[in-house]
Amino acid sequence: MRAFDRPAMPIPTSMRIRPLLPADLDAVLRVQAACYPPAMQEAAAVVKARLDAAAATCLAACDAGGVCGYLFAYPSRLGRVTALGAPFEIAPDADTLYLHDLAVDPRAHGRGLARALVAHLLGRGRRLDSSRGLTHAALVSVQDSTRFWSGLGFKERSTGDAGLLTYPAGAVHMARPLT
Ligand SMILES: CC(C)(COP(=O)(O)OP(=O)(O)OC[C@H]1O[C@@H](n2cnc3c(N)ncnc32)[C@H](O)[C@@H]1OP(=O)(O)O)[C@@H](O)C(=O)NCCC(=O)NCCS
Repeated sequence: MRAFDRPAMPIPTSMRIRPLLPADLDAVLRVQAACYPPAMQEAAAVVKARLDAAAATCLAACDAGGVCGYLFAYPSRLGRVTALGAPFEIAPDADTLYLHDLAVDPRAHGRGLARALVAHLLGRGRRLDSSRGLTHAALVSVQDSTRFWSGLGFKERSTGDAGLLTYPAGAVHMARPLT
């Protein structure tokens, strides 16, 4: 088994992962504010519209204090990049599960929540595979997170999508096979 395919370490029993709900929007915005600089904050209306469009592939991580992490994703095409602040454009001919935003509140860092959120989502993506033909997962790595993503099997990949230019310097497009 490849290191990145090993089962995620169990998260603390006081924490759980569940589908993200419209009622979580305020908590999501609080986590976003704690995790990103002002230039990377995305508007509440866009975040809400993404959840409405792709609820099946958006997850929340919760602790005793409520939502402490989230992962937004949607079916896309390999090589496409969601521009910062843009809505999700779900591809009718999707081949890729695109992970747009993964964030864990600093209060919950280092407990395996981010890894568990991604493992949950990729498992879900594999289950979608037969009906949708998803073969890859992809993302834009920001804030020096490439080592985190490499640990989950993602590799840098070139793309000509202008959406990448909407991110701060150092953003890297990465992808991995879903199976
Ligand atoms: C990146 C982030 C999601 C990690 O959350 P986390 O729950 O603390 O991560 P985990 O506890 O699941 O860590 C999993 C592994 O990645 C490593 N890791 C965590 N954050 C990392 C980072 N920023 N860079 C490199 N490695 C990292 C951990 O040490 C751990 O390694 P191990 O399995 O060998 O012990 C979190 O730091 C965060 O929300 N950052 C701000 C938002 C952001 O930049 N998101 C990335 C968008 S592309």
